[in-house]
Amino acid sequence: MIFDLDKDKALNETYKLMAQTIIPRPIAWVVTEDEGVVNVAPFSYFIGLSSDPASVLISVGHKPDGTPKDTLVNIRKNKKCTICMVKEDNLEKMHLSSKGLDKDVSEAEVFDIETVSLADGYPPMIKSVPAAYFCELNQEIDLGGGSTIPLVLNVKQIFVDDEVITNKERLTISFDPVARIGKSYAFLGEEIEAPVIP
Ligand SMILES: Cc1cc2nc3c(=O)[nH]c(=O)nc-3n(C[C@H](O)[C@H](O)[C@H](O)COP(=O)(O)O)c2cc1C
Repeated sequence: MIFDLDKDKALNETYKLMAQTIIPRPIAWVVTEDEGVVNVAPFSYFIGLSSDPASVLISVGHKPDGTPKDTLVNIRKNKKCTICMVKEDNLEKMHLSSKGLDKDVSEAEVFDIETVSLADGYPPMIKSVPAAYFCELNQEIDLGGGSTIPLVLNVKQIFVDDEVITNKERLTISFDPVARIGKSYAFLGEEIEAPVIP
């Protein structure tokens, strides 16, 4: 069956198709700040773009009332965000933080998500996460319509919890990430060694 997206633009269908075929998707648990309010929300249109320069992309949409999501407003205004990676014990609070709250209400406070300020000039990171990226806005990408705005972010500092660094000399990192599969979540299964290329 072929779905022609130009002919049938029902957004929900397209979302269903993409969210269930691009799997698993990593989750960026994004912290932004404005006027002292700490905003927290998850985004799974999230991908690493390059390690030189270190950069990632998140796509942030609009609220049902048509106004930009708070994360988008805050990044546009302050040019900074902190992206936290999500492991198993973060799952419930990460999911709760997707609730659409008023901009002056902090998900960190409402859902009791503990944060800690680590990098000067950046929003705080969530305390119990395995890793966090401190990012600056590089640019918005114009997709030529629609209400989702891809944001290219330059990564300036990376925090990795000492507990997930399994070998400091080799810089080996290991934790059990939570991924998005459709509207559900999953952990990674068995790790498979890459085949040797002759
Ligand atoms: C796992 C997960 C992934 C999500 N991914 C996205 C996404 O990629 N883009 C988006 O606009 N909203 C996404 N959402 C919805 C936002 O988290 C939600 O709209 C949130 O209220 C936005 O908060 P804000 O207004 O504080 O920025 C996702 C929700 C969940 C639970």
